[in-house]
Amino acid sequence: MSGPRVGILISGGGSNMGALIAAMQGGAVAASPALVLSNRADAAGLARAAAAGVATAVVDHRDFADRAGFEAALDRVLRQAGVDLVCCAGFLRVLTAQMTTAWAGRMLNIHPALLPLFKGLDTHARALAAGVAVHGATVHEVTAELDGGPILGQVVVPVRGGDTPESLAARVLAAEHRLYPAVLAAFVRDPVALRRDRIALWGM
Ligand code: GRF
Repeated sequence: MSGPRVGILISGGGSNMGALIAAMQGGAVAASPALVLSNRADAAGLARAAAAGVATAVVDHRDFADRAGFEAALDRVLRQAGVDLVCCAGFLRVLTAQMTTAWAGRMLNIHPALLPLFKGLDTHARALAAGVAVHGATVHEVTAELDGGPILGQVVVPVRGGDTPESLAARVLAAEHRLYPAVLAAFVRDPVALRRDRIALWGM
C-alpha cells in the first residue's frame, strides 16, 4: 500500500471505517490506513481496526475542558501518525474552525442523508416524517459549517412502504459502504476532478 496516509475518526461501530480499510488494503483505494482514532474508548470499531492490523488511538473529549483542547490533541495525534488525509466515519463530535481550517481540503465526512436535506441527527426518522420517496448518504468535505461542506458524492436509496427508521438506516448504511470507498478512491486520484465531477450512485 502506498499513497496518502489516511486517518479515520470514529465514535462507534465503525462499519464505514471497515469498508474504507478493506478498500485500501485490497488495493481499490490508492492510500493506506495509518490510524483509527476514536473519542470513545468503548467504540467497537477500535477492536475491528486492530484486527485489520491498523494502529488505533483514543482521545476522549471528556478529558478536556473545552473543544479547543480536544481538537489540539486530535490534531497532534493525527500529525504524529503522519496522517495526510482524514476521513470522519461516524465521528459524533462537532469540529470547530480550529480543526476544519487546519485540515481544509484534506478532511472528508459521510452523512446519512442526501445533503443539503436533513443536516444533523436523526436523519432517517426525519426523512420518513417528511414523506420523501428517496433518501441516501453524502460524502462531503468538512468545513466549519456543520454538514455544509462541498459535496463529493451521493448514493440514493428508495424509501419503501412500511420502512422504520431502523430498516431505512440499514439500507442507507449498506449503500454508505459502497459510496465512501468510491469517493475516497476518486479523491486520492484527483481531488480537483472529483470536486468538478461528483460521484452519483444508486442503491437498493
Ligand atoms: C453512519 O450512518 C454514518 O453516516 C453516520 O453514522 C453512522 C456510522 O456508522 N455518520 P458506522 O460507525 O460507520 O457503522
